[in-house]
Amino acid sequence: MQQRKNDAPESHPWTVFAAEAEVRVLPGGDTQVLKRLKAGERVSGTLYRDSRTDEEWLVARLDGQHVYLQLCTLMRVHPGFAPVNGNLPIGAEFVNRWWGIPTTYEPNDLVALEAPYIIEDGKEYRLRAEAADAVKRMVDAAAGDEIILRVVSSYRSGEYQRGLFEKACRKDGAAQRYSARPGHSEHQLGTAVDICDLKQEHAFEHSFQDTKEGEWLTANAGRFGFRRSYTDANTEETGYISEPWHWRYWGKDITT
Ligand code: DAL
Ligand code: ZN
Repeated sequence: MQQRKNDAPESHPWTVFAAEAEVRVLPGGDTQVLKRLKAGERVSGTLYRDSRTDEEWLVARLDGQHVYLQLCTLMRVHPGFAPVNGNLPIGAEFVNRWWGIPTTYEPNDLVALEAPYIIEDGKEYRLRAEAADAVKRMVDAAAGDEIILRVVSSYRSGEYQRGLFEKACRKDGAAQRYSARPGHSEHQLGTAVDICDLKQEHAFEHSFQDTKEGEWLTANAGRFGFRRSYTDANTEETGYISEPWHWRYWGKDITT
C-alpha cells in the first residue's frame, strides 16, 4: 500500500513545540546560541543529519547567515492535514518522522478497549472505532490459533506523546530513534497499536519478532488491515528502530 503522495514543499515551516528552541551558529550542544525561539514560533529550513552524533538539525537562514536548530524541539504539520467531520480518513493520514499532525488533533470516534484485549494495568486503552473492531477480530482470531495477544499501547494524545518523547531524549539523547516527536506519532492517529505476549516477556523488545505471537502477526495481521510500520528493512527510510510490536491499521482493504 502506498502512503498518499507527499507533495509538500520541504521549505514548509516547522513549529517549536518545546518551551524554547536554541538557534545556534553550528550544529552541536556546545556552540554559540544566537537567540531562542519560543513555543509556537515557526521556522523554515533544510534538514541536516550530523553523521558524527546522528542528531538531526534544521538549517535555517537568519540575517543572512546559516543557523542550526535541533529538530527534537520542532514539529511540522503536513499541509494536506484535512480532517473530515473532525477525523482524518483512515489510511490516508500523513504521519512520519518529518511530517505530522497538530498536537491538538484527537479523533472523535475513539472507543475504549476492554479485557481481554488489553494488558490489565489500570490504564485506559482507546482506538478509533474501526481500528478497535479490527484489533478485536485479530486478537480473537489469534486466540483461535492458541496465540494470546494483548494491546499494550494504543491512542496517545499529542501532549502525552510530548512527555514520552522528552523523557526518551533526557534518557538517551536527541539522537534516540525510538520515540516520535509530538504530532509525529502514529499513535496520535488512534489507529496504531503496540502488541505484546500475555506475560509481557518480550514487550517492546526486538525478540518479540521471533516469538510465536510475533510470527503469527507477521503472517496474519494484514488480513485484519494492520501493517508493521518499523521493520528491520526500513530503519533508514523511517528514521526509527525496528519495532516488531507496532502495528498500524490502514483500513479494511489492505490486502487488495
Ligand atoms: N515508537 C514510535 C516511533 C512512536 O513513538 O510513535
Ligand atoms: Zn507503537
